[in-house]
Amino acid sequence: MLSQAHDVGAPSLLDALRTGTALLHVALEKRMPFFSERLDADWYQRLLQAYHGFYAPMEAALYASARIPNGFDAASRVKTPTLLSDLHALGLNDAAIHALPYCTALPRLDTPAACLGTLYVLEGATLGGQVLRREMARRLGIDADNGGAFLDVYGAETGRRWKDFLDYLGNQALDAKARQRAVDAARSTFSCFERWLDSQEVLL
Ligand code: HEM
Repeated sequence: MLSQAHDVGAPSLLDALRTGTALLHVALEKRMPFFSERLDADWYQRLLQAYHGFYAPMEAALYASARIPNGFDAASRVKTPTLLSDLHALGLNDAAIHALPYCTALPRLDTPAACLGTLYVLEGATLGGQVLRREMARRLGIDADNGGAFLDVYGAETGRRWKDFLDYLGNQALDAKARQRAVDAARSTFSCFERWLDSQEVLL
């Protein structure tokens, strides 16, 4: 692998990830029901179940891959446990959660670069949290204690944690090919997630 220093003029990994996923973000955000007048408690619960059905296998695959470049603090960034406790707060027990559908069409994590692309999407997805949390509290009375902790999973730490993640990303020396693998994985993460949510009939 070449270091970025040998790659003068090439976009940074972050720029490439942003450019490569911006339209996918806009498209998915538009289909998310958080701001729909029709979203009710039942739909919210189905949405959270679908999130869990994606994040649980996705995070398990990431951490089992042993391909995440050193420096990523998985233990403090794993989000499935928060989704699990939200589902408990909404009244589901472990057996009911276990019986829910789980996504099997996940992005391929066959290289460290692919892991970075997927992590970019999962970490970036925390950035909309504050606005989603406020909206769910106002509309459905859902907050961190009764099923909405995942929405703002990092709370007041969101900005700092995002900055730390960007530092981690900026320290990765990827050549152009590896950068492309990261972008492909990030794009695939968005599309796998959207397809999964669609199949669970929770999107607009
Ligand atoms: C209604 C749902 C969503 C809202 C309102 C939302 C909102 C936001 C906001 C406000 C930002 C920060 C933009 C900035 O500071 O420049 C952001 C960034 C981001 N979001 Fe979302 N988002 C939503 C859903 C998602 C989902 C479902 C994903 C992926 C699973 C996602 C992935 C990302 C990523 C990767 C970034 C980082 C972009 C960057 O590089 O700065 N978002 N989102």
